Formats: sequence, structure tokens, C-alpha cells
Amino acid sequence: MGVFKKRTTAWAQFVVLLSLLDSNLGQIVYSVSEEVNQGTVVGNIAKDLNLNVQELESRMFQIVSGPHKKYFEVNAKTGLFIVSDRIDREELCLDTRKCSLKLEAVAHNPLNLYRIEVNILDVNDNAPAFPAEGLNLNIIENAFLGDRFPLLLAGDVDVGSNAVKTYKLSPNEHFSLDVQSGGEQRLSAELVLQKALDREKQSVIQLLLTAVDGGKPPKSGTLQITVNVLDSNDNNPVFSQTLYKVRVSENGPRGTPIVTLNATDLDEGVNSEIVYSILEHGSMKESEIFAIDPDTGDIIIKGNIDYEENAAFELRVQAKDKGHLPRSTHCKVLIEVIDVNDNAPDISVTSLTNMVREDAKIGTAIALIVVSDRDGGKNGDVNCHIEGSTSFKLQSSYKNYYSLVVDGPLDRETVSQYNVTITATDEGTPPLSVAKIITVDVSDVNDNAPRFSSSELIVYLRENMPVGSNVLTVFAFDADAKENAEVTYSLLIGNSKEVLTNPIVSINSATGDIYSLQIFDYEDVKNFQFCVQATDSGVPPLSSNVTVNLFILDMNDNSPQILPPYSDSGSVNTERISYFVEAGYFVAKIRAVDADSGYNALLSYHIAESKENNLFRIGTSTGEIRTRRRMSDNDLRIHPLVILVSDSGDPSLSSTVSIDVAVVESTGEDRTHFKERPQKDNNFSVLNLYLVIAIVSVSVIFLVSLLILIAIKCHRTDGTLNRYDASMITAHPDGSWSYSKSTQQYDVCFSSDTLKSDVVVFPSPCAFAEADGISVNGADTFKRNQTLPMSEKVRINVLIFD
Ligand SMILES: *[C@@H]1O[C@H](CO)[C@@H](O)[C@H](O)[C@H]1NC(C)=O
Ligand SMILES: *[C@@H]1O[C@H](CO)[C@@H](O)[C@H](O)[C@H]1NC(C)=O
Repeated sequence: MGVFKKRTTAWAQFVVLLSLLDSNLGQIVYSVSEEVNQGTVVGNIAKDLNLNVQELESRMFQIVSGPHKKYFEVNAKTGLFIVSDRIDREELCLDTRKCSLKLEAVAHNPLNLYRIEVNILDVNDNAPAFPAEGLNLNIIENAFLGDRFPLLLAGDVDVGSNAVKTYKLSPNEHFSLDVQSGGEQRLSAELVLQKALDREKQSVIQLLLTAVDGGKPPKSGTLQITVNVLDSNDNNPVFSQTLYKVRVSENGPRGTPIVTLNATDLDEGVNSEIVYSILEHGSMKESEIFAIDPDTGDIIIKGNIDYEENAAFELRVQAKDKGHLPRSTHCKVLIEVIDVNDNAPDISVTSLTNMVREDAKIGTAIALIVVSDRDGGKNGDVNCHIEGSTSFKLQSSYKNYYSLVVDGPLDRETVSQYNVTITATDEGTPPLSVAKIITVDVSDVNDNAPRFSSSELIVYLRENMPVGSNVLTVFAFDADAKENAEVTYSLLIGNSKEVLTNPIVSINSATGDIYSLQIFDYEDVKNFQFCVQATDSGVPPLSSNVTVNLFILDMNDNSPQILPPYSDSGSVNTERISYFVEAGYFVAKIRAVDADSGYNALLSYHIAESKENNLFRIGTSTGEIRTRRRMSDNDLRIHPLVILVSDSGDPSLSSTVSIDVAVVESTGEDRTHFKERPQKDNNFSVLNLYLVIAIVSVSVIFLVSLLILIAIKCHRTDGTLNRYDASMITAHPDGSWSYSKSTQQYDVCFSSDTLKSDVVVFPSPCAFAEADGISVNGADTFKRNQTLPMSEKVRINVLIFD
């Protein structure tokens, strides 16, 4: 049974006296709190032991402490059991809940032994204490909610209710404290994660754990908990911009940096170390053109940037950290390529036709031209033009489309092929240009008639040439090509009926060779005129003609002809003269003519058989026979004379006439003289007759020629050429030609000296073309030694006379 005794002493606190009396041992149990002051009365031991106070001293009552410190003593006067030294329960009995001191009290006379048990009652004199001053907890930031982290526990040497009773955690948002008391066991405390950690927000969390005991007043101890939030790779790298825009010139040199990307990662360590890379996608070849430094994020040019291939690039760049489970992010880099004028324009030609007809109308399209330039903007704006001036121009239908059209008259005969140079220039700086040559062939159209070298040809042909002789070869040139230039020749039937009924020449249609169909006799016809036509094979054919004037050249084919009264036909002519005639007496005159002309008709007279003939002489040109001297007796009575009349041709032809001159005596002088007179008269009249005939005929011919000439002139103004009449030009043996109308005179040189010919040339407004050359068939060729002015149209008449 417990007995509580209140003492009046001020320093007494409280005493719990648990008095258990053991009848056998006489054991007294006291309880006293630890740490009470010295002198604190624990109990009245005298009374409890039923001892008389007065006896205590005498019986030498004392406490035997044993090996312990002497915590207690008994006041012998009062019999009180008092604390004599500081009692520390924790010192006395560590770790035991019940702490009691076993003492013995001894009283002598009689010797009595008493057991005293003093229970030391705990006082909350110790605060809870943690084994360390601080606690470092490393918690990864991605720890799950509800994760538990055991804490260091606090110890309290006090026991019972004075031991640690609870823990408290400083207020924080992340952790709660879970304290478990497992019955007999000590309390355990754990941190419980309530809210996700984020190292990037708060990498260190300071907590204060307080352990509180159950004493009154309670005591507490604290523990500084440092939570280090460990990084987990929970943050993606972040680019400073989600979209980077840069402009880059095309053809930039390799290695040129164009932009630096920057991505950051809130994580730390390897989790924040970033590797850059270009993501490939599709068929784009960005990664061939651009490269990125994986560490610095510098994008550089790696390949060839061609604006014409790609005007812009879109790179997707990845930034990836090096964490265990790497995290990555992307950004876009838009690279705009700035065009550089690095492409010349291109010309593409679609030919519409290989050939353009020379009569093509203006505006006829020949080719389609498309120009292009792979550059952009101004660098790709192209202008097109034709170099130089040609008969073509470019027509623009719409931008960059042109057609090459005919812009002027074409003439294959002048230019049969054009190389049209088309130049395309862009508007870049500096501009680039390209040229292309289009070859345009001009095809032939039958627009040219065959052309003779002149409108008239003059040909000289010796008389008596055999049938089939080549008179001349005509040639006409046709400026066209192929069949348009294939010329055939034909004789044109003129308005001369003579030619019609009696053909004089034939022509080889292919070669233009002209052959005679007759033997021409100069004494019969002196010239002919005919017309040759040249026709080409074009469709429709074109033709032109040439007038051929064929002059027959005289040959010495006629012998002189003795005119009456003499004749050469065997019979002997007789003349009488008087014996007494003086020297120089006129005996006779021989007359002869020659049908030829010129030298062929120039006669000379000689006495052929002159047997000792010194009596007579003959005038070589006059044909007059005269005496040389007076007669003598020695002379014969009859003088037979043979007179040779020869022309001057080569070879010369001649005729002879025989005259017997009879000498009569003086009686016959009168008769002779008489006879002579009528003969003289006769001779004179015959001579006169010839002279008159000659003069009249020359005059008539001259007049006729003049008239015809005037007529022709008037006719020529109407443009007809075929009226040219050959008869107007007649070579006359002894005519003197001098046209007063001739305003121009040209010399024509024959290459042969045997012919001595003059040419009279006079211009005519009716003429069509100049005479380029005159061929003399079978004889000679002569050339003009003076060129006629082109502007003058002249007609050449060649007149031949001796
Ligand atoms: C056009 O060019 C071609 C080829 O270069 C050349 O053979 C020809 O003679 C030229 N034609 C002209 C008319 O210049
Ligand atoms: C010959 O040609 C001219 C023009 O050159 C023409 O006037 C004339 O009629 C032609 N003559 C004949 C017979 O065809």
C-alpha cells in the first residue's frame, strides 16, 4: 500500500512512499525522484522501522550503501531518511525502466539489519537527442509520391513517459512525417513524399525534425534534415527560338557558319549536355548541304547551295541531352536562299520549217523560241533580240515566248542562207547572256527567167560554110536553182516569112548549139536575123529571148568579070591605032567587075603576055591601055595583048582578055581617030551608066536605111525588138559610111589583120541590153575595147566595108 507524506519542508518536492513491509525481511521501500536536492526527506525511517528516535543514536543506526555512492543518510535526531547526494537515475541505471537502489540499514544493540529499497523515480531531465547533428538525404527528383525515407531516430535517456513520445517535422510542401509506434518498440519516423520534387525548382530542401518527449514540460531535440534533390533527366532541352530564320547567298563557300542554335536543358550534368543533329526527312538532302556542330549548334554550309534547285530549306534540328534516358526537342531552321545571277538564260528553238520560200510573206513564222533562266527575280528576267539586221524579227507572243518571223523580202539568189543570231540577256548584275544561231535556208522559187548576156547577138559566118556547121552556141543563165534553172533553147518563129518557109538554122535545145541548114552565099544574102528563146523548167516556166544577127562574111569566090565591049570568052578583040600616034596615046580601056566585095572586089590590071612588049602599058587600077612611045618601022603591025584582071582576094582570082592592036598607015589616021571617038563616047557612056547606077543605089540605100532607122526608133519605143531589119545594114563595096546621127563611136578590133573592118556603133533608146560580146563564127572574135555605161541601153550595129 502506498503512503504519501507531505512534508512541510520547503525544498521537499514530493515523496512517494511505497511501503511494503516484508514481514520476514523487514524491508522498507521508498521512492524518491532523481535529482532532488540534498537533504530532501525521503521518509521517516525511524517511524517506519518502529524505532525510537532516541535509540537511533545509541544503537548507531546507519545506512550501508555498499559499493554505491552514498546517496542517502539518516538524521539520527529526527530519524528522517534524507538525500545526501545528487541522484542521477540515468547514471545509476541506464536503459532500465525500473531503477532502484538496494540499501541496508544497520542498528546495533541489538543488531538489526533492515533492507531498504529506494526506487529512484525518473524526472524528465533529458531532452531527446539525435545521433547526428544533421541528416543528408539524397532523393531523386522523380521519386514517386508515397515513397518513404527512414529518418534518424532520436534517443532519450529518460524513460517512460519521459522518453521520446513524438516527432514533428517543420512545415514543408513536399514531405509529411509518418511516426509509428510499434507497441514495445521505439517510435520510428519516416519521411513520406507528398508532392513531387523538382530539382530544377528546388534542389535542396531543409527540414527540421523535432523529437519531443512526454515529460512535463516536454523536452525536445531537433535534427536538421537536408534533402538533396537528385537530378533526373526530366527536362527536355529547349531551343532559344522555336523557329530560326536565316538568309544565305547561293554558292556560299563551304564551311561558312550561317546560324548558331542554342538549346538549354534545365537538368544538370550529362542530363543537360546537349548534342545537336539535323533530322533527315523525306528525300531532302539537307544533311548533305548543311552540317551542324553537335556540340556548339553552329550550322555551317557543307555542300553546294543552288538557288535553282532549292530556293529555301527547312531544317529540323534536334537537341538531345546525354542523359541515361535521353530527352530531345526539335526546332525548325528556315533557310532562305538569296539568288545569285549564276545561270545564263537558255534558248530553246522549235523549228517550224526547214526552208522558207523566198517569196514568203512578211510575218511568216519560222521558229518558236522559248527563253528561260533558272535564276529568280531580276536575275531570271530575260530579254531577247536578234543580232544585227536581217530580214527576220522576233515577235513576242507572251513573256519569254517568241516567234521568229520574216520581216523583209527574201531573195534566194542574193542570200540563200541566213544565220540568225538570237541573244538572250537577263537583267541580273552583271547580266548574263547567251546566243543561239538559227540557220534559215531560203528555198528557191522560179522567180528568175533565163537571161542571155545581151538582148542581141551578132555573129559573123563565112559564106559557103557546109550545112551543119556550128554557127554559134547561145547560153542563158538562170539564177534560180535546180529545175528552175534548167534551161532549154528553141528557135522562135519571127515575123520573117523567109525564115518560116526556108529554115536557115536549127538549135540543139539542150546545149544551145545552133547549126546552119543552108550554105550561105554572101553575094545572095548578107545577113539574117532570128530569135532564140530560153525557157526554164520551173512551174510556171519563165523564158526570155535573144535576137541573133547573123552576118555572112564575104569570101573571094567570084572571079573578075570583063565588061563589054570586050569579053574573055575566047574571041579576040581588035583595036586599031595609027602609025603616027604620039606616046601616051589612049588605046583602050578594059572594064571588069567582081561580085565579091571589099578587097575581093578590088581589081588590078596587068598586061600578061608581053612578048618584047615595050610599046603598050596599062593603068593598073584604071585598066587604060596607052602607048609608051612613038612607033618605029621595026615594030610589028599587029600587037596581040593579053590583059590579066585580078582581084586582091587571097588567093586572088583573075580573068584574062585578049586584044589584038593593029597598026595602020597614015591614011587610016583619020579613020582611026574617027573610030576612036565613038568608042570613047561609048566608053564614056558606059562608065557614066555605072557611076550613075552606083550613086543612085548608094543614095537610095542610104535613104532607105535612114527611113528604116527612124521607123525602128519609133517602133522601139513601143518595146518591140523583132522589127529590126537586116537590110538596113548592107555592106557596100564602095560606099562611104558616115552617119551623122551617130553620137558615139566605138572601135572594134578584129583579131585578124586580114579583115579590115570598121564598126559603127550608135546608141538607141529602143535597145534592151548592152552587147557583152560578139562572136564571129568560123572567123574571129572581137571585143569591145570600151565598156558601155550600164545606164545606157545601146544597140550595136556592126557595119563592115572595105
Ligand atoms: C551559217 O553557219 C554555218 C555553220 O556555222 C556555216 O557553215 C554557214 O556558212 C553559215 N552561213 C552563212 C550564210 O553565214
Ligand atoms: C522577146 O523578149 C522580149 C522581152 O525581153 C519580148 O518583149 C518579146 O516579145 C520577145 N519576143 C518573142 C518573139 O517572144
